[in-house]
Amino acid sequence: MLNDNFILKNGGYSNYEDTRDLPRHRWYYYKEGFSPNLVEKAIEHSGVGKDELIIDPFNGSGTTTLTSALKGYKSVGIEVNPFTSFLSNTKNKNADINELEKWKEKLLISSEKGSASPLLGFSTFSNKTDLEKWLFNDSILNSFEGGWQLASSIPAYNIRKLVKLALISAAMQNCNAKKDGKCLRYRSNWEQNNFDKDSFLESLKLILSNIAADIKEQPITQKSTIINGDCREILETSNLFKSFKLCVTSPPYLNTFDYTDIYRPELFLGKFIKRPRNLYNLRLKTVRSHIQAKWKEPTLNNFGTFYEETMEHINANKENLMHKNIPMMVQAYFEDMLKILKILKTKASKDAQIWLVVSNSAYAGLEVPVDLIIGDIGSKAGWYLKEIGVLRSLKKRKTKYSTNIVQLRESVIIFSNSKI
Ligand SMILES: C[S@@+](CC[C@H](N)C(=O)[O-])C[C@H]1O[C@@H](n2cnc3c(N)ncnc32)[C@H](O)[C@@H]1O
Repeated sequence: MLNDNFILKNGGYSNYEDTRDLPRHRWYYYKEGFSPNLVEKAIEHSGVGKDELIIDPFNGSGTTTLTSALKGYKSVGIEVNPFTSFLSNTKNKNADINELEKWKEKLLISSEKGSASPLLGFSTFSNKTDLEKWLFNDSILNSFEGGWQLASSIPAYNIRKLVKLALISAAMQNCNAKKDGKCLRYRSNWEQNNFDKDSFLESLKLILSNIAADIKEQPITQKSTIINGDCREILETSNLFKSFKLCVTSPPYLNTFDYTDIYRPELFLGKFIKRPRNLYNLRLKTVRSHIQAKWKEPTLNNFGTFYEETMEHINANKENLMHKNIPMMVQAYFEDMLKILKILKTKASKDAQIWLVVSNSAYAGLEVPVDLIIGDIGSKAGWYLKEIGVLRSLKKRKTKYSTNIVQLRESVIIFSNSKI
């Protein structure tokens, strides 16, 4: 079932790099997304019709929903992170360009003037005496806040959201740190960059021009629905997913990457959360792929032979794990995947397909075959495993754990609800 000569191998389908300059995607660069080309291929192969439904329970920046919308397909996405679901939602919006232009002028005046940011002095957001490094220089935070206050007063809903996204995106382009794997890493020349109000305003102008141009050239004709919340609950309780024909999705990888931590600047800038406690509560709603929260302990463990072999190895080599909770996290992750695949089965149309992108992980010197384990789990949930197509080999960063593993497989697992 594992196809190492998969037709999409090494074609850039699982990465987001080529979307940097694409209309609408370019409003905010989301590093962890997959390519719209993957969604297009899935649409083509599954034969989904324009009156049928495409879904993505781990919607992220909304590649599945935006690609579907632009091609005229109905789609629904779920995303737990309020910033990311706001991003996905906003990328799907149309607006009156003249009205947007009018607000752009007012926005630039308010941002130029600025207002005292509530993030000044908070955590590592700005410079203070005991810090060696900080995320934003003060003039950016104040300029952002001036713009934010103006944006909040815009009566037209879509324009208000578009302007807010432009503000967050411009602030992140002028942040002293950038996303790098599992962490925010300070740019090597962050002090010399000297990001300030002027560079922030330049970024803001450019993003707003791109937004106006893209809305004009690529209006959305089939708007998607994006729900903010935990897909493990929403899939079960909502009627919106009934009889879906295609699911193109990518859950968090089993690599201890905590999206709520990485997107902390955006969550606070956009006032999606106000206190560290809220961040912790959000973490509890995410799929159990990291060790940053005290999860409910998993109870299931009958996930097939690949899983059994993996756990046997991990448990026998506990001294080579970076954290004592890794075995529990691995079990909990697959329990979550089983739950989701089971619910999806109850919602699927008779010839529905799932395209699920994952990467393998490395623990205690072992490459954990996440794709093969999920293949087993899907079959257990009642899906027919069509193929596990290898998309590429990911270079693995060197750590003191699993030094023998230098690359990890990234694949798409294709399930079908009918045998052929
Ligand atoms: C690999 S990313 C998806 C990226 C997406 N394919 C794209 O192209 O933008 C996984 C996403 O799952 C989200 N997530 C984690 N736990 C979730 C949950 N319980 N319900 C819904 N979304 C969740 C994360 O916040 C993250 O945005």
